[in-house]
Amino acid sequence: MDRIRIVGGRNLNGTIPISGAKNATLPLMIASLLTDQTLILDNVPRLADVSLLQLILGNHGVDIMVGGKRSGETADHGQTLHISAARIVDTTAPYELVSKMRASFWVLAPLVARMGEARVSMPGGCAIGTRPVDLLIMAIERLGAKIEIDGGYVVARAPHGLKGAEIVFPKITVGGTHTAIMAAALAQGTTVIDNAAREPEIVDVADCLNKMGARISGAGTRHIVVEGVAKLNGARHAVLPDRIETGTYAMAVAMAGGDILLRNARPELLQAALDVLKHTGVTVTPTNQGIRIARNGAELAPVEVTTAPFPDFPTDLQAQLMALMTRARGVSHIVETIFENRFMHVQELARLGARIQLEGERATIEGVEQLKGAPVMATDLRASVSLVIAALAAEGETIVNRVYHLDRGFERLEEKLARCGAAIERLSG
Ligand code: UD1
Repeated sequence: MDRIRIVGGRNLNGTIPISGAKNATLPLMIASLLTDQTLILDNVPRLADVSLLQLILGNHGVDIMVGGKRSGETADHGQTLHISAARIVDTTAPYELVSKMRASFWVLAPLVARMGEARVSMPGGCAIGTRPVDLLIMAIERLGAKIEIDGGYVVARAPHGLKGAEIVFPKITVGGTHTAIMAAALAQGTTVIDNAAREPEIVDVADCLNKMGARISGAGTRHIVVEGVAKLNGARHAVLPDRIETGTYAMAVAMAGGDILLRNARPELLQAALDVLKHTGVTVTPTNQGIRIARNGAELAPVEVTTAPFPDFPTDLQAQLMALMTRARGVSHIVETIFENRFMHVQELARLGARIQLEGERATIEGVEQLKGAPVMATDLRASVSLVIAALAAEGETIVNRVYHLDRGFERLEEKLARCGAAIERLSG
């Protein structure tokens, strides 16, 4: 199993290219199930989750061709996927596959919308909490599908097609909103979605669906209206930049010190996180190439942050911010409101010398003078990367085990950081 070795204490200087967003790529690939024509996606990141979803879609009969690199292109350019669901051969998504990646449960909506039936394994729990799918099922049920739970599978049937309806989410859910939009795109009549998630990835998927011939308005607001159409076409769409990768490297520079251009990053995708960084004393400068982040040795000020749905501070940057605040001058508080139990990084950060107290959903972080390197591991993607951030400023060597979590969501992480001066390398085997 690969590990990553980091020796802390180096500044970061140079440019880090930001990849396409994982959390947009996955639903965009799934949206290909809605049409028998080819969907071409550009700027797709090379991630383990993308490869796994290729496998899962392949099981339904979807053909995916990965475009080759053109001359002069480097790995900094994302991949181009040509995805064709001309013939769906199987409407079942089995447990062995869905349990490996939760977002694959989202195939339920396009399969039932286009094929009139779908049988998708319940995803089960995961390292960051129970993560139910009741609201995704509710959305499909509202559009007229008959739902049955059978042997751990959700079986959805709508032999005469789905019908537009009003869907009011009692809680904001990204997966629920993706599900409602994809199902409504091919339903008869109009669907109104209230209390929708406003995440930029929802807007990106809606933009792509509209290029495919869907009629979706209001994506990016709480109120989305979808006029169903009988058929969707192929289209070409470039995935938006990854705001979580952007925020992660911004915090890495804040931790290590230095001056970095995050190329292709878009400030409006993570304004809340950039505001928090500015409060800590980091210099944040939007440029026409991306965002520049700089810290020249000044102390970090502590923060009070609560995670919440977009446009507020994202739960997917909570662990990284906590790592940063272990070195702040003073006491910070971070409240996690989205996922219970998303604090596995706390014990591991403590191994590096961090002082963190947990009380329910609230963490109190007392900044320390110096962290010290140690062997660590984490059981979730964002938690793992928080350990990398801490290690960049820790004295001596840190070994991060179970690197496959990082490979799920961060493209060539060690290469991007090493190019900017970090002492970081992958140890294979
Ligand atoms: C997505 C992101 C994930 C991010 C999360 C919150 C992808 C692939 N994943 O996950 O990285 O951390 O949004 O921004 O885009 N809930 C229910 N019932 C449901 C569904 C959700 O109670 O049926 C609850 C969840 O337990 C959680 C909250 O709603 O407390 C938000 O979850 P949700 O937005 O659905 O997260 P995901 O879409 O799974």
